[in-house]
Amino acid sequence: MKIKRHYLAFVLLSTSAAWSQAADPVVPVVAPTQATDGKTIFQTVCAQCHGNSGEGKVELKSPSIAGMPSWYVHTQFTNFREGRRGHDAADPPSFMMATIAKALQPKQIQAVVEHVEKLPMVVPQGQNREMAEASAQAGLQLFQERCMECHRYNASGEMAFGSPPLLGRQGWYLADQLKKFKTGQRGTHKSDVNGAKMVQITNFFIEDDQMLRDVVAYILTLNPDPAASKETQEKQILEGSPFKDVTAVSQ
Ligand code: HEC
Ligand code: HEC
Repeated sequence: MKIKRHYLAFVLLSTSAAWSQAADPVVPVVAPTQATDGKTIFQTVCAQCHGNSGEGKVELKSPSIAGMPSWYVHTQFTNFREGRRGHDAADPPSFMMATIAKALQPKQIQAVVEHVEKLPMVVPQGQNREMAEASAQAGLQLFQERCMECHRYNASGEMAFGSPPLLGRQGWYLADQLKKFKTGQRGTHKSDVNGAKMVQITNFFIEDDQMLRDVVAYILTLNPDPAASKETQEKQILEGSPFKDVTAVSQ
């Protein structure tokens, strides 16, 4: 336990030092925990960075994770632990998350992953739902041609392909991850089969920053109205985006 505490404190400190050159966020010091129930682990560890409802925090570049399917969260923990993600100290958000993933026992991970899945999805709003200088209408075509075969028409994900739901994530987070795939910060480890798919997609089909912003703007339209009832939200998710007319765009 002692070793782990030192290790965690050390890495978080060095992470914040590396980060301070860029954005200077206040990185919380997360104490290790012996807890084995998912809720306690979430509240004592994850909430520090992902927020009490799992809504994420822009200043830490932490995604909203509430309601994420357990298979995907589990895969990402394995990726973080085994160096497929978060291996590069020049990518502080990922590096930080990898440190946390490595500090937990497999039993604790299983418990917290199940808890995360049960949390109600936090629908992005405000700055989390905005993409500057982007056109959702322009992003529609790329999404339908290149993304929905794996992420589905409504971006709700597909376990069989290992492709996560893109609903509920903040626009800036989706954009950051696409950039990480494109620059090889994510998905280039030789055993990262699923990440490699996204490295290919971003390099072949997302030609520039404009396309990237447009496709994210489109994905954001697939989110339901945050003020609607749970029932209406579910209906809106099934219906997909209000921008539906792909032929009007492609002709
Ligand atoms: C010290 C801050 C910090 C703590 C504590 C933390 N995370 Fe994270 N987490 C992050 C950041 C930052 C990212 C984004 C990494 C990136 O950009 O690749 C992240 C990414 C993730 C992802 C990947 C999401 C995706 O869409 O691929 C999952 C899943 C996750 N965290 C779950 C958890 C859980 C569960 C806990 C608690 C056991 C936790 N995190 C604790 C900061 C943290
Ligand atoms: C061939 C299948 C496939 C296609 C096509 C595809 N994806 Fe993915 N996508 C995946 C898989 C698999 C992952 C999970 C990678 C991992 O496990 O790290 C993923 C992950 C992502 C992520 C990271 C999500 C997160 O929570 O961190 C984003 C963003 C994303 N895809 C967007 C897109 C966009 C936009 C397109 C179209 C331009 C697209 N994807 C096309 C399979 C695909």
